[in-house]
Amino acid sequence: MNFEASAGEFVLSSKVETGKVAWRSPSNIALVKYWGKHGDQLPRNPSLSFTLSQSYSETTLLFKPREEFSTTVSLSFLFDGESKPDFEKRLQGYFDKVRQIFPFIDQLHFDIRSRNSFPHSSGIASSASAFSALALCLCSLEDALFETLQDDVVFRQKASYVARLGSGSASRSIFAHAALWGETGLVEGASDEYAIPVGDMLHSEFHQYCNTILLVSEEQKSVSSSAGHQLMEGHPFAENRYLQAGRNLMYLVESLRTGDVERFVQICEQEALQLHALMMCSQPYYILMQPNSLRIIQLIREFRLESKIPVAFTLDAGPNIHLLYRYNDRTKVESFIENNLLQYCTRSSMIQDGLGKGPIQIE
Ligand code: PMV
Repeated sequence: MNFEASAGEFVLSSKVETGKVAWRSPSNIALVKYWGKHGDQLPRNPSLSFTLSQSYSETTLLFKPREEFSTTVSLSFLFDGESKPDFEKRLQGYFDKVRQIFPFIDQLHFDIRSRNSFPHSSGIASSASAFSALALCLCSLEDALFETLQDDVVFRQKASYVARLGSGSASRSIFAHAALWGETGLVEGASDEYAIPVGDMLHSEFHQYCNTILLVSEEQKSVSSSAGHQLMEGHPFAENRYLQAGRNLMYLVESLRTGDVERFVQICEQEALQLHALMMCSQPYYILMQPNSLRIIQLIREFRLESKIPVAFTLDAGPNIHLLYRYNDRTKVESFIENNLLQYCTRSSMIQDGLGKGPIQIE
């Protein structure tokens, strides 16, 4: 699929009014991880994530006509009302990249305002929610100006593609409940270019699945994900990892379809530990788990053995633990968290989250 505009397409022929579009878009937690990329943000292996509900970004894109035509992107960015020069620069690069898809970018000035529902320091991957919100805004703007994205399936596919160009994992945040990104023969329509929704495949065991994020540390990640993906180039275990990710995806899809929660737990934990193991033996290496991450992991395993409740942990590229469990088990799991795990979290902090319905357009 090529989303680049052909000559003369999406160019404004008359002056537009000042206006705005805004979206709330969630973060997501990968179960099979995307780690390693090539080309223009293309994944080395397919990944699958749950879309979250409470952890989201809200982004408003205000636009106005520019007095003079210029091929230099014109934008300002405020996060929580404050300027963030580093991110503004990243956005300038991103808008420059997507000018081929949305040529009207050259004719407009943008003021971008964004906020997150979660603390910036919580270690939650904000790039997934931030870039998905922004991509949705750009697609809404295209549709407002040219009425080209009236079909919701087409709209979301393009938004996922555009989000991917900002941050790979953002491609998955566009869809409710669960999304798959990357080519695989397991699910029809899967693509490296954009994610596809797979919420429909979830067995009822996974409906309303809960995800508590235990904040072991609120410090910033010590490795950016782009540096992290780079570590996979020439990594001694890279080829095996990509094969294993493909196999894990097959088992995960099977368990999600059949409601095999035990299998689900095995795959989630293996994927999380493998991600961290890869980082520990790359050059340079990173140890992103902290002593309290390991303590929590140990306690989760003991709790699962004793209670027979299939709770699973997973991690992003950081020390915080995502606890995944069934809605019907929540009373017991939440009291376990309260009594046994919170003491290992920074300031006893956690975020109560779970499967979400995906992005929504806001006023
Ligand atoms: O989308 P990126 O480039 O921030 O990479 C995300 C990498 C992980 O969060 C570690 C895994 C994933 O699939 O989300």
